[in-house]
Amino acid sequence: MTTVQTSTNGDQLNQDSDKSNLIVEGKTLDLPLYKGSIGPSVMDISRLYAQSDMFTYDPGFTSTASCESKITYIDGDKGVLLHRGYPIDQLAEQGSFLETCYLLLYGDLPQGEQFEDFKHRITYHTMLHEQIHTFYKGFRRDAHPMAIMVGVVGALSAFYHDSTDINDPTQRNIASLRMIAKMPTIAAMAYKYSIGQPFVTPRNDLDYSANFLNMCFSVPAEDYKVDPVLARAMDRIFILHADHEQNASTSTVRLAGSSGANPFACIAAGIACLWGPSHGGANEAALTMLEEIGSVDRIPEYIRRAKDKSDPFRLMGFGHRVYKNYDPRATVMQKTCHEVLDTLGLKDEPLLQVAMELERIAREDPYFVEKKLYPNIDFYSGITLRALGFPPEMFTVLFALARTVGWIAQWREMIEDPQQRIGRPRQLYTGPTLRDYVPTSNR
Ligand code: ACO
Repeated sequence: MTTVQTSTNGDQLNQDSDKSNLIVEGKTLDLPLYKGSIGPSVMDISRLYAQSDMFTYDPGFTSTASCESKITYIDGDKGVLLHRGYPIDQLAEQGSFLETCYLLLYGDLPQGEQFEDFKHRITYHTMLHEQIHTFYKGFRRDAHPMAIMVGVVGALSAFYHDSTDINDPTQRNIASLRMIAKMPTIAAMAYKYSIGQPFVTPRNDLDYSANFLNMCFSVPAEDYKVDPVLARAMDRIFILHADHEQNASTSTVRLAGSSGANPFACIAAGIACLWGPSHGGANEAALTMLEEIGSVDRIPEYIRRAKDKSDPFRLMGFGHRVYKNYDPRATVMQKTCHEVLDTLGLKDEPLLQVAMELERIAREDPYFVEKKLYPNIDFYSGITLRALGFPPEMFTVLFALARTVGWIAQWREMIEDPQQRIGRPRQLYTGPTLRDYVPTSNR
């Protein structure tokens, strides 16, 4: 039997120490410790196999840092989310999505001229190659817009081959700007195609989020004016989803990129991963649950079901793998939800009443309090997006649109990291041991 014992030179991962002693089957190994600027330190186990003939085992990566990053920091116990040091609520309430994009990509908030140039470059890359329109027409009319997103984004390398050399920093930057600029056009076209309406060309006189709403909701038959309150709400929703450090889709993008794959292919891989119901699909599930509950008087029944271990029902939009406190994005999302419903004259929307009452009851109930189950970003986002006019199939598409900048920033950081190597996890093999082939006639 193998015994592994760890100890550090002092308190936990000691501030004064830069080494940890790991005792593996009686042999003491000195493993380097690295301190983050905030948050937990890490123990470097990259030489563990060479020194001990042993791997580590961590399904779901709950204790494994896969990279060093300077982009996003989360403290799940305190409910903190920082992008390049800036709290998410400050960015969402005082900044814009394009400023957040600049910050995530280049490390700092833009100065006046820099921002004007960035905005200009994004605005003038929003159109898609005309032949991509033909490509859309190959999809079934009733195709899910996420299926279209995966296909079209994956195909971008066929249309923009001049920005696929990952070793050229200029091409990397052009590919980044192209994707941030074109994603709203691709997403709006996926929506328009799925409902049988004509594509709407991007408009350079509108800002990023207003242009997106216009491409989704205007039709050639009449004038459409984007409500500035709704455009601001859309922008804020994009900021809230822009990055979330090494989550499943971001790790997928990094792993795909580690082989040297082109950036368009890597982002398509991220979109495919995000589509999974445990990741990007929860906002739709939260809305479905609120609709199923329907009225405030039915809440106690659902709370009872959520607490019953023999019932698979869970309160959707509650709980988070990392946040064991209020999800800081949920606070801003709740406020945005109220603003959108007020603007649209939907203050008495029954689903909002159900959501608020559900939250109030759950936050006083010992089951949810003890398990630290708080509303997450998805709890209010479904109601908000539906009020803005989007059908549930589009919710994950909007998430993908906003997360594209996070994926790109993380992909760029990885490519520029001198430590970068192809990602290649190991395994604990439990299959058959060596055996000889037996011909069919003798089996
Ligand atoms: N309703 C009722 N009970 C819950 C809920 C919930 N929403 N979430 C967790 N619990 C309970 C579990 O039954 C478990 O109880 P136990 O300790 O008695 O067995 C305990 O709380 C811990 O739950 P885990 O599933 O172990 O926590 P984990 O961190 O693995 O899961 C998750 C987090 C998947 C988000 C979970 O809370 C959940 O299913 N929530 C509902 C779905 C949801 O809203 N997902 C969106 C996440 S945010 C995002 O992806 C952008």
